[in-house]
Amino acid sequence: MSPLHSASSTEPRTVDQDAQPRIVRTVAGVREELRSARAAGLSVGLVPTMGALHDGHLSLIEAARQRCDVVVVSVFVNPTQFDEQADLLAYPRNEERDAALARQAGADVLFIPAASEIYRTGFSSTVEVHGLTDRLEGAVRGKGHFRGVSTVVCKLLNIVSPDIAYFGRKDAQQAAVIRRMVADLDIQTQIETMPTVREPDGLAMSSRNARLAPAERERALALHAGLRAAERLAAEGERCCARLIEEAERTMASYAVRPEYVALVEPDSFEDLERLDAAGLLLIAARVGQTRLIDNLALWATNRSPLH
Ligand code: PAJ
Repeated sequence: MSPLHSASSTEPRTVDQDAQPRIVRTVAGVREELRSARAAGLSVGLVPTMGALHDGHLSLIEAARQRCDVVVVSVFVNPTQFDEQADLLAYPRNEERDAALARQAGADVLFIPAASEIYRTGFSSTVEVHGLTDRLEGAVRGKGHFRGVSTVVCKLLNIVSPDIAYFGRKDAQQAAVIRRMVADLDIQTQIETMPTVREPDGLAMSSRNARLAPAERERALALHAGLRAAERLAAEGERCCARLIEEAERTMASYAVRPEYVALVEPDSFEDLERLDAAGLLLIAARVGQTRLIDNLALWATNRSPLH
């Protein structure tokens, strides 16, 4: 297996065309590829992605590289988790670029299955996490979204059987759903979540950012600005969640962006909080033009006295 790689997520990415990980397209192929590593007692890390890799994805691969002997990256634009056909069709795909970037970040094996390999003829099972999936992303995108995510991630964990799988906190509800599924179904994989990687101006990196027209790219800062405004208010001592949410909404309005939701929840249950007495997770979703964006920030109660 390849030696440790040391690419930093802050360096600009140039694509080295010579750097290619082994590309495997079948379930049997992945298992075969990992057979000798397992026999040698090596640890395996998995980074599930839908491709169009950016520095956010690469930070997960680099984290896996640091902890695991063998790093598997899956690239699969999972059709069952898309609530809009147009979104699925518009999803960017560039296998060569993804392979080179993944290799530079430290991937050993790239699993790029066709949809027919994951959803074989007669496929009729799903994995569904209840409760957590009812609200926020689940409510806006529909029940099928998280069902599609949990089903495909369950399959990927079964196919690769990694010791550790890596997910981004940018998709905080998704990470919580996956943690719940792994705990409920006794899947023997440790789930690691990594911080959100942002553009220098604060916009959370996302494959969807490429679809923003220049004027929309400016307005997209509304999400991060809304989160930071609420964070500042919380740091001043404000504990009332309704006021913190209002502050985020007001800030977003100054960018002419109306949120689909702003919620301040308990970080594990995703239940709404009334007061920020300990840790909370502030979550925002908004459409900027045709592009749907999400972002979130952890907030903590401070000891300073409230302004109100
Ligand atoms: P995708 O959107 O490609 O994201 C793959 C992983 O990268 C997810 O864990 C996501 O949270 C993480 N990620 C995305 N943007 C990030 C950023 N700016 N900083 C840090 N991490 C970031 O999420 C999916 O694919 C799919 O739902 C998947 C889990 C692969 C199942 O199909």
